[in-house]
Amino acid sequence: MGLSPYVPKPVKIVRIKEETPDTKTITIGPKPFDFTPGQFAMVTVYGVGEAPFSICSTPSDNNLQFSIRKMGSVTTAIHEASPGDEIGVRGPYGRGWPLGEMRNRDILLVGGGIGFAPLRPLLLHLLENSNKYGRIAVCYGARSPSLLMYRDEFGEWMERGVELYLTVDVGEGDWKGNVGVVTTILDKPNLNKAETIVCTCGPPVMIKFVLKKLVELGYSEENIYASLESKMRCGIGKCGHCHFGGKHVCVDGPVFRYDEIMELPRGISPF
Ligand SMILES: Cc1cc2nc3c(=O)[nH]c(=O)nc-3n(C[C@H](O)[C@H](O)[C@H](O)COP(=O)(O)OP(=O)(O)OC[C@H]3O[C@@H](n4cnc5c(N)ncnc54)[C@H](O)[C@@H]3O)c2cc1C
Ligand code: FES
Repeated sequence: MGLSPYVPKPVKIVRIKEETPDTKTITIGPKPFDFTPGQFAMVTVYGVGEAPFSICSTPSDNNLQFSIRKMGSVTTAIHEASPGDEIGVRGPYGRGWPLGEMRNRDILLVGGGIGFAPLRPLLLHLLENSNKYGRIAVCYGARSPSLLMYRDEFGEWMERGVELYLTVDVGEGDWKGNVGVVTTILDKPNLNKAETIVCTCGPPVMIKFVLKKLVELGYSEENIYASLESKMRCGIGKCGHCHFGGKHVCVDGPVFRYDEIMELPRGISPF
């Protein structure tokens, strides 16, 4: 008889990095499974519990990374862990970003706060395979400059050809960039809008206004995808915790296309 799908694989924490004042990026390894950008995994802290997190490293990395914001018991336990500690991980789960649709197309990534976590593996994968894709633009916003994740990578992304537009709700310190919500910079990328594939992730209210604005700007509904979040327990379509209007977010999502999002009921739909 095979092992239960609920049994996590033991892995060691290799590194922990302070990403923002409330978020740490943990590196675990060696990677116990392959994945595609946009998928998530269930992370177990023994004796505390488990929770779903987007995998934020590139699929070509031998380790896995997660950027984790401190919320409750599991995330606090992860924030208190140290390199060398053992945790459990099972996955990969869910439907990731539509890589097949992106071939030879321009791509726009729109992130809000910690919502950039599932977009980072996509961005890194696109950069590693840039001959297969068109231009890449990123619009990324956070409440304040210190809450922008992956700041130490921005320079390298731009050197590798990414058009990067940043914004914050409230400027602080020596911030000289745009101030305003992320919809205020969506008109900046110089892309072939009708053909561009757009991938977005962030708080539900951000996703709602981003989707509306994208359509207003001329992006095609059929090319817009968003990663949605819901409460989850099993991660494999069995427990019903993430079941909305005939869809399991853990299996049918977390990435949904615009038309699928429009059909989702209240409770999961950002509208
Ligand atoms: C597919 C998916 C991917 C995710 N990716 C990430 C990620 O990359 N980084 C990250 O930091 N978090 C991510 N989350 C959210 C993360 O799973 C929750 O923050 C975590 O479960 C909280 O666990 P806890 O035991 O620390 O807190 P709990 O004690 O369970 O809860 C603390 C507080 O957080 C709220 N909460 C719990 N789960 C969620 C949720 N899914 N959405 C919104 N609020 C929640 C609770 O209502 C409560 O108010 C993701 C969730 C899903 C479903
Ligand atoms: S989390 Fe159990 S069905 Fe989706």
